[in-house]
Amino acid sequence: MKTQLIPAEQVKEAAALIKKGGLVVFPTETVYGLGASAFNPVACARIFTAKGRPSDNPLIVHVSNEALLAEVAGNLPEPAVMLKKAFWPGPLSLIVPKNPNLPEIVTAGLTTVAVRWPRSKTALAFLEECGTAVAAPSANVSGAPSPTTFEMAKGAMLGRVDAIVAGEDCEEGLESTIVGFVDGQPKILRPGSITSEQIAAVLGCSVQDLIYRAPTEGRPVSPGLKYTHYKPSATVRLFRAVEELPALAVEGHKVGILMLSGSAATLPEDWVVLDFADWKGYGHSLYASFFDLDRFGCTLILAQLPDEEGLGTAIANRLKKAAGV
Ligand code: TXA
Ligand code: MG
Repeated sequence: MKTQLIPAEQVKEAAALIKKGGLVVFPTETVYGLGASAFNPVACARIFTAKGRPSDNPLIVHVSNEALLAEVAGNLPEPAVMLKKAFWPGPLSLIVPKNPNLPEIVTAGLTTVAVRWPRSKTALAFLEECGTAVAAPSANVSGAPSPTTFEMAKGAMLGRVDAIVAGEDCEEGLESTIVGFVDGQPKILRPGSITSEQIAAVLGCSVQDLIYRAPTEGRPVSPGLKYTHYKPSATVRLFRAVEELPALAVEGHKVGILMLSGSAATLPEDWVVLDFADWKGYGHSLYASFFDLDRFGCTLILAQLPDEEGLGTAIANRLKKAAGV
């Protein structure tokens, strides 16, 4: 399929393709999304093919105003209203009752829908031009890291979609925080850059209360949780402190390392070192770093693991999945 590359100033052209049932990759503040009109089930079916995504894994629906939200969702539970007021537009997805008119394929047959009102200017301009809600998973082939730059989006989706919007690098670089409701209680189903601490503060509960424990049997509340994600081609191994590095088996590998800067460690000269001033910068560049290290031919990525609090929870979640631990 021929894929048009559309400058960010021309989102109107990209929106015209959505209205005709096309697939368009567009930037958001989290990661690039692979969008189709949420009310066009044939177009939504093409998303699953383009990504190689299992059909039981529902899509996040993107809106840019209250009218579009009402077309997608039913009544929002009170905590969802509080979170919406606090964090939208922004990197938070809420699992809420679905509007019966929303095609089943979008929600993989669930009675709930994941909705997000992004804050990226390009995403908002695009959604406004579309004039319809846009279903969009991350624009990676299933299992691979999500694209956070135009170059990565092109690498993943050229030839698979009708157009890619040549947008900015994603500000957050990690997928949105997902909050769902289990027996009416708000739970974090996927950590993101809006932290548990921030969500607990808005809801007046404890961080502990928000922890979701997946059932050992039956369908998980978020189908995507069961799939392997975020894996670069290289093997990923994790470490917390540079003192652990000598013990990690690197024999026969071309090694890339992701770490905070400022450590006094002397690293082998042939390692590719990507270092970051703080965890925010590390999280922002995590997937782009995986992409770069794969491109440099690294076969082993040693990635520093943050403490699991604040933004560290989301980074550690993605790293552990990438490392398969
Ligand atoms: O930041 C993001 O959320 C990006 C950008 C493009 O918005 N999108 C994204 O979508 O990460 P995706 O499809 O890669 O991840 C969506 C996750 C999946 O794990 C899916 O199972 C879960 O959301 N999900 C979607 N609808 C759901 C629902 N009704 N109930 C529970 N989980 C749901
Ligand atoms: Mg994804």
